[in-house]
Amino acid sequence: MGFPSARPRRLRRTPALRRLVAETRLHPADLVLPVFVREGIDTPVAISAMPGVVQHTLDSLVDEARRCVAAGLGGIMVFGVPQAKDARGSGADAPDGILNVALSRLVEEVGDDLVVMADLCLDEFTDHGHCGVLAADGSVDNDATLERYASMALAQAGTGAAVLGLSGMMDGQVGFVRSALDAAGYPDTVILAYAAKYTSGLYGPFREAVQSSLVGDRATYQQDPANGTEALRELELDIAEGADIVMVKPAGPHLDVIAAAAAMSPVPVAAYQISGEYAQVEAAAERGWVDRDRVMLESLVNIRRAGAQVVLTYYALEAATRL
Ligand code: PBG
Repeated sequence: MGFPSARPRRLRRTPALRRLVAETRLHPADLVLPVFVREGIDTPVAISAMPGVVQHTLDSLVDEARRCVAAGLGGIMVFGVPQAKDARGSGADAPDGILNVALSRLVEEVGDDLVVMADLCLDEFTDHGHCGVLAADGSVDNDATLERYASMALAQAGTGAAVLGLSGMMDGQVGFVRSALDAAGYPDTVILAYAAKYTSGLYGPFREAVQSSLVGDRATYQQDPANGTEALRELELDIAEGADIVMVKPAGPHLDVIAAAAAMSPVPVAAYQISGEYAQVEAAAERGWVDRDRVMLESLVNIRRAGAQVVLTYYALEAATRL
């Protein structure tokens, strides 16, 4: 053999050639911005572990949503931070609870131009910080939690939110909430199921963002990062129960699971680049150790390439303006 005639480098020679043959593109419409809205504040509050991300007031949230519309984003995922928390997460399904109030405002202001999504989980609303209600022995009570989720779903659907993001990882949550929505006259409310959600230390900054009082972890309900096959079971169950979109989370550490989901799922696959993934990039960039914009776009393209059609990321607005 002499010098090669097959030369893959040919197609990498110029930016124009590379652009022509790129297999994956990021588009603003594929991106969803997660946002936090906090009750009882009149100016936005910075989240120290997530530079550039804030807890919004209702008004600043609407401004942010308008920026999402202007940038052509696909959607906005809303998390509520209530002033008072209790054991059953009463603020979650209260019609005047901060999340439901915020959803109504957003639906009214931007609902025609942006998909308004609601986080459906109790952890932001419980004083113990778990995603469900607790049994007498302190464990998270799966079936009692389903009743709370159903009530929350009706409150959220009542705001007109287009998509409910079921992030609690209780068994049967998708089917239970689907039945409740259908019975109450909300057959068109979309369920985005956090189907393969792994327990992770990378949720740390989110705990600050929602002022969580959680002690310990969520290992009895979120998946063990050691398991891949188990994710397929979770995905299959959620799809069978009626999930309209399935999600893998965190995203970057689980590209293999995203790829497996994309290969088997008949419904769209989403992935969530979580708070700690964001914080890692920010921290390294702050030290000058990595090029922030480059790593930001690279991380998102990798998640898309693995097979996620929709990407939730705190970089959504910024990334959209750089595409
Ligand atoms: C549950 C929920 C969490 C996140 C999204 N939905 C917290 C958790 O599971 O511990 C984390 C998102 C992030 O870290 O960016 N309500």
